[in-house]
Amino acid sequence: MAGSVETFQLSVDAAEAYEARFVPALFGEWAPHLVEAAAVAPGQAVLDVACGTGVVARTAADRMGGAGKVVGLDLNEGMLAVARRLRPDIEWRQGDAAALPFQPRSFDVVLCQAALMFFPDRAAALREMARVTTAHGTVAVQVWDRLEAQQGYQPFYEVLAHHVGQEAMDLESSYWVLGDLDLIGSLFEAAGLRVAATRTRVGTARFDSVDELVRTEVEGTPLGDRITGEVYRELLAEAQVALRHFTTAAGKAEIPIQGHLITARK
Ligand SMILES: C[S@@+](CC[C@H](N)C(=O)[O-])C[C@H]1O[C@@H](n2cnc3c(N)ncnc32)[C@H](O)[C@@H]1O
Repeated sequence: MAGSVETFQLSVDAAEAYEARFVPALFGEWAPHLVEAAAVAPGQAVLDVACGTGVVARTAADRMGGAGKVVGLDLNEGMLAVARRLRPDIEWRQGDAAALPFQPRSFDVVLCQAALMFFPDRAAALREMARVTTAHGTVAVQVWDRLEAQQGYQPFYEVLAHHVGQEAMDLESSYWVLGDLDLIGSLFEAAGLRVAATRTRVGTARFDSVDELVRTEVEGTPLGDRITGEVYRELLAEAQVALRHFTTAAGKAEIPIQGHLITARK
């Protein structure tokens, strides 16, 4: 898988926008479901791989009520700076998912939300997750379903495809590349992980307006560095039309988004 895979790297400003806008709108809803799927419990040692600004690690720590240990790891110092500011009580580590800086069997639960698609070497990352998990531990991963399954994001993606260049589209396409459960199953198996359960659910990304959705997608992701002001204005205008079926009477944007929660054991 090595090559020009999108790795979702952000500046500190974009990481702040990610936390302020994207986490409440979208990622925050999924964190309790992932933590629940992994049956995180007080007293455990839990690792959140590619933690970003830390929503999953925070959710796990809250569920554990201070009993046990939570570590969040991410490649990106900008994301970690925000995570540290919000929760200094959690351990935050910089590192690569494909070379986890931990001893074998260090964690009862290893979690990874909305990130496996951004790793250049997904097989190595899954092998690393298996390596640092205890013999009876759990690896739980969340990914988005295929683009064809995304009723709301598909029309938005079509607007993007008309206006943004290839580098920007590589980012947009990468979100959906791990939606095929058979593909995920074989990736897990190759890494020495046995899939114990999968759950597909539909969440709702909630934004105050379609403009706010576009601003979040642009300013809270690497897309912001890859488009011109003119393209940004075109996106703002055309998204209003493309997403009209997902706009409430009060003008809010409510976009369904389908994802998978996969739990596995060694
Ligand atoms: C869409 S964000 C998801 C963050 C977080 N899990 C959440 O749910 O909000 C993807 C994250 O993957 C991280 N990432 C990408 N490649 C990575 C790698 N090889 N090792 C560790 N983190 C990586 C990025 O820095 C980014 O924080």
